[in-house]
Amino acid sequence: MNYTHKKKVDKQNIELINYLPNIGISSVVKEITEGLNTTPKTISPKFFYDGKGSDLFEQITHLKEYYPTRTEKKIISSLGEKLDVSFENLNVIELGSGDSSKISLLFNQISADELKTVTYFPVDISQSAIEKSASELIQQFTLKNITGIIVDFFHQLKLIPKPGRRLFCFFGSTIGNFDTSQARDFMKQLGSTMQRGDSLLLGMDMVKDISVLESAYNDKKGITAEFNKNILNVVNNLIDSDFSTSDFKHYAFFNGKKNRIEMHLKALKDVEVNLGSEKIHISKGETIHTENSCKFNLDDIEKFGMWAGLKTAQVFNDPNKWFSLVYYRKN
Ligand code: AVJ
Repeated sequence: MNYTHKKKVDKQNIELINYLPNIGISSVVKEITEGLNTTPKTISPKFFYDGKGSDLFEQITHLKEYYPTRTEKKIISSLGEKLDVSFENLNVIELGSGDSSKISLLFNQISADELKTVTYFPVDISQSAIEKSASELIQQFTLKNITGIIVDFFHQLKLIPKPGRRLFCFFGSTIGNFDTSQARDFMKQLGSTMQRGDSLLLGMDMVKDISVLESAYNDKKGITAEFNKNILNVVNNLIDSDFSTSDFKHYAFFNGKKNRIEMHLKALKDVEVNLGSEKIHISKGETIHTENSCKFNLDDIEKFGMWAGLKTAQVFNDPNKWFSLVYYRKN
């Protein structure tokens, strides 16, 4: 998460463009400080993903309890022939690309002849994740080019290039991090930046048994707890605050009214935190809300398409219907 240096690195045929400095560190400080002054206190989940947070998330994806990644990857691995898209001269734009392991499953199913006409744009808030994944990917596949884009894609969607026909991939049910009105705004924005012939593959984690959901966010090894607490270290680095992770415990549960997993950090005692310009008080038992992870129903698939002005072309599922990969098209 580099909000201060705009850096462009060229290695092989990898380019990197960092748009985070356009947001400016002062508005990041403002966003975090404001969130910590609301009731309940909140920190946006986008601040999970510094280098360490991205590593911890990758560890989460391998946990036995965390079914979403495994399930979605299985679906992607058998898309090949079924997905109604031509990869010839396609620009693949992956929002929240992380370690790029999902796109590599898709590229595995495409012929070398087609792949060399494909340009891949990994889009992520973590520069270190993009650098690492792009250099791994370029060893594995011969693509026309990789251009990594470091943006906060909720606020900077317009900065994503329009080099020709595009396939947007938004895997991982990361859309579930948005609340309903944010998801609506996001889908509207995305739909309006899309041009005729462009398409979207959207990963959606579906509502299921509460015990399955809650275990996925309360793993036995405590990696999710570590990931959750690490957000305080990221905040300390960004705004020069003095949170101590040991003052908080991980707290995650399914909110059945809103169909979402909520993650919070619960204060183990009364704490004073210096935010640089001001001090805040957090009472014992009070929580900082760090993430919503919404779970969806079939209705939501159509609703998202409507908001974006996209047609639902294909829906892919695992046999349990725990996860949906939805293919939308702009006509
Ligand atoms: C990357 C946002 C989809 O909500 O499941 C994993 C993040 N948080 N464990 C999710 C996450 C806790 C993940 N997303």
